[in-house]
Amino acid sequence: MRAALFPGSFDPLHNGHLEIVEMAARTFDRVVVAPLHNSRKGVPLFTLQERAGMIADAVAHLDNVGVAAGEGLAVDLAREVGADVIVKGLRVASDFEHELQMAQMNEALAGVVTLFLPCASTSSFISSSLIRDIVRLGGAGRVASMVPPPVAKRLAEVAL
Ligand code: PNS
Repeated sequence: MRAALFPGSFDPLHNGHLEIVEMAARTFDRVVVAPLHNSRKGVPLFTLQERAGMIADAVAHLDNVGVAAGEGLAVDLAREVGADVIVKGLRVASDFEHELQMAQMNEALAGVVTLFLPCASTSSFISSSLIRDIVRLGGAGRVASMVPPPVAKRLAEVAL
């Protein structure tokens, strides 16, 4: 039985992420989506627990997908949930350099292999950081179609 961990900031999860979750769910027996801290990112919009709750709602239609938020290393969480593979989505070429470095580090730390899945060209322009900026500037309604409905609902609430 092959299980994969899909770690990310997911602040918030958007349609590009959901496509990767759905692709991974078709490829692996079990997938665990894990919102984690990224020390390179600024002030978060949502707590890890809030992100985990929104992700759980957004993936409820997928039987073999679960959610696990964590404070520590992605490779330790992978081991905890029984995943021997990490999956990450790639949008554009500029994603690759840092993703490659993290993949190599995770392999060196714990022998965990990373597989990259391509996101659809229709969502390659969507990023959580742009969504956060737009929401903070009052545009939550204008990004609602770029995120799953449970996330759009929460974005509208934080924008109030
Ligand atoms: O969506 P992101 O921000 O590109 O995801 C990056 C993330 C959260 C997967 C990465 O920062 C991470 O793995 N954080 C957990 C701590 C960790 O394992 N750091 C070492 C990474 S090599």
